[in-house]
Amino acid sequence: MDVNYLRISLVDRCNFRCTYCMPTGAEFDYLHRAELLSYEELLRLVEEVFLPLGIDRFRLTGGEPLLRRGIVGFVRALCALPGVADVSMTTNGYLLEELAGDLYAAGLRRINISLDSLDAAVFRQITGRDHWHKVWRGIQTAYQTGFDPLKLNVVVLPGVNDREVPDLAALTVERNWHVRFIEFMPVGNTDYFDAAGWVASETLRQRIRERFGLGAGTCFGNGPADVFQIPGARGTVGFISQMSECFCERCNRVRLSADGWLRPCLLNEADQVDLKHPLRAGVSPQQLRATVAELLACKPEINFKERDRGTTGGYARTMSQIGG
Ligand code: GTP
Ligand code: 5AD
Ligand code: SF4
Repeated sequence: MDVNYLRISLVDRCNFRCTYCMPTGAEFDYLHRAELLSYEELLRLVEEVFLPLGIDRFRLTGGEPLLRRGIVGFVRALCALPGVADVSMTTNGYLLEELAGDLYAAGLRRINISLDSLDAAVFRQITGRDHWHKVWRGIQTAYQTGFDPLKLNVVVLPGVNDREVPDLAALTVERNWHVRFIEFMPVGNTDYFDAAGWVASETLRQRIRERFGLGAGTCFGNGPADVFQIPGARGTVGFISQMSECFCERCNRVRLSADGWLRPCLLNEADQVDLKHPLRAGVSPQQLRATVAELLACKPEINFKERDRGTTGGYARTMSQIGG
């Protein structure tokens, strides 16, 4: 599978504390501003390194990308670069109520928002924040603004929100939303994962099928989700099943951390390369392209279940630092 998609983490900070994403009670040493790739540096990398290598789709992630100052201007500049085919964002939705209109005007059209529960108390239990209503308003604002596709991400946690899966799936009946259920994976908070475990997507599909029926699965695009539809629904339900199946062979993406490390795979920390320091040291675009081309050429396919064989076996970074 050709790599044409880069996930850019803009900042490692987050204003939520999702239990699946961050170790409980962790205090982080957040990156200082000077350690982050500046917007100018990011645009240079996109223009001089990634676009010429055929990477023309970009997803902005975090931490929480909307916490980075000047985000709207950066989105505008990125969308305006000749050759950029697609720009999207993954956000917790907290600031969308305020920013959705400006982001749309800046050129953003695709947005994925985390929504792990329809119940404000469960939402608080999962995210550590009492912000369900604000996030819900943010989702409505994004929808009314015209973001399409609008995807909602649900990390399914046994005994916490898994019973809500049919209700969350029901959101797609009347609205053109794409609700995706993500199998909890042991990146970010492994202690919690070891204690809680995960629920297989097939179990969830069965529950949805019993309540509403579910059309045959079709895989749209190259993303990690298997996509289905409740009969007659306007939107779709997707399943991201990295625990119960391996989608590595259709993986089209690499990831850039906020401090400029390019990693070939979510789970591959060992083979990441530093782009920031060479860039700052004045290394030529040709040389940077050669470094990235080499990483792309040997992008190892690592089945997450076999991760200990392919990587260092442990991850120094949390999900919020990798950008999901
Ligand atoms: P689009 O297909 O562009 O909408 O993006 P996406 O679905 O990949 O984006 P999003 O940020 O919403 O990702 C949802 C979740 O999918 C992530 O948080 C991860 O849990 C999972 N995911 C995305 N890419 C990978 C990957 O390469 N490997 C694994 N194991 N999981 C991934
Ligand atoms: N397992 C699965 N998905 C996760 N995310 C964060 N941590 C995990 C995990 N341990 C997802 C969030 C969000 C994206 C940025 O990463 O749901 O959609
Ligand atoms: Fe923040 Fe997203 Fe991690 Fe939740 S999943 S703590 S919103 S980075």
